[in-house]
Amino acid sequence: MGTLLIYGSYGFVGALIAREAIDRGLDPVLAGRNRDRLREQVDDLEQPGRRFDLEDPAVVAEALADVDCVLNCAGPFSNTAEALVEGCLESEAEYVDITGEIPVIEALEDRDDEAIDAGVTLLPAAAFSTVPMDCLAAHLADRLPDATDLALGVDSVRVPSVGTLRTVIEGAEDGGTIRRGGTLEDVPAAWRTRRIDFGRGDRPAVTMPTGDVSSAYYTTGIPNVEIYAVMPQPARTALRLHRDLAPILASNPVQWTLERLTGIREGPSERARERGSAYLWGEARSGDERVVARLRTPDPYIVTVDAAVTATQRVLAGDAADGFQTAAGAFGAEFVLDLDGAEGFFDDSSPEATSPTNPLLR
Ligand SMILES: NC(=O)c1ccc[n+]([C@@H]2O[C@H](COP(=O)([O-])OP(=O)(O)OC[C@H]3O[C@@H](n4cnc5c(N)ncnc54)[C@H](OP(=O)(O)O)[C@@H]3O)[C@@H](O)[C@H]2O)c1
Repeated sequence: MGTLLIYGSYGFVGALIAREAIDRGLDPVLAGRNRDRLREQVDDLEQPGRRFDLEDPAVVAEALADVDCVLNCAGPFSNTAEALVEGCLESEAEYVDITGEIPVIEALEDRDDEAIDAGVTLLPAAAFSTVPMDCLAAHLADRLPDATDLALGVDSVRVPSVGTLRTVIEGAEDGGTIRRGGTLEDVPAAWRTRRIDFGRGDRPAVTMPTGDVSSAYYTTGIPNVEIYAVMPQPARTALRLHRDLAPILASNPVQWTLERLTGIREGPSERARERGSAYLWGEARSGDERVVARLRTPDPYIVTVDAAVTATQRVLAGDAADGFQTAAGAFGAEFVLDLDGAEGFFDDSSPEATSPTNPLLR
């Protein structure tokens, strides 16, 4: 197996991924820009480390010269993906990341031809957003090949992390995104509300601009895509308080709101991750025809770590084609079912798709 470099290995998720990669025998090189944090992790995990920042393309290319695959865990990825992808194309290393950012996935898709020419796989979003929804979308497209409309939703059952709350609040400031006629379209935040039965009774969900808007389209070719999420109570509270208080806060109102008003400062604890779970729902339509399927997964952080490391192992093994890839595009709809604790697909084609025998209702 080739050399794996994990960039951003000492961040919250990067550190979980680094430990999992070591446990699976991938022997990763740990990397990032902060000398002290990297040294501490290198000493702790007894793995090789490589410190470099992403400012100078020549430095990045040199740092990746002997690397076979980069797993980028350094977000926001709008600040890191381009430089690392450039370095990967230069040094012919494969690239995997855990972004959930639509513009980052779109930018990688734009480099499909370059990646094919370089013989390199570009696989963004190997994480909770987007692997389960991407696989659910592929499964629905298999069942209804001429579908024109795809709606996908998630109900994540746990206390959200600061990162999730920040995404909700900042996302509300930026507005939303859907796909219509194959093109990304800006819509207001929480543009549409829908009551969705995730297998546990109807719950209100709102449209959210997650990376799934990109991946589901590239995997299935279905031109109209909407992504929904049930907004947890802490996120609703933070959003409401932020709206009321943001105008009177001098600087960094999002951080202020999160820390002072929610009391949440970092990612979920190991115990919270072990207790968490997520319910996913998807619907494909073509005229009067409608198919629905559901999926259940462990906590989003557990899925992210498992999906990122499993996808990286598959890429290193040569299982993914060159060029831009989505997880389901590269490995098929069943990929999510290879992840620990993922259960599905629970198909439903009744008119309102609320079968009392749905196994998620138990
Ligand atoms: N798609 C999904 O489902 C999913 C799931 C979980 C997390 N994520 C995303 O993954 C990212 C990491 O999350 P986290 O909770 O681990 O965050 P975190 O603890 O803040 O870690 C971020 C890491 O990125 C590095 N970094 C940030 N900007 C950088 C830059 N410009 N150049 C070099 N390194 C940079 C940081 O290093 P420094 O200390 O040197 O700044 C740190 O190592 C976030 O963007 C999060 O939204 C996505």
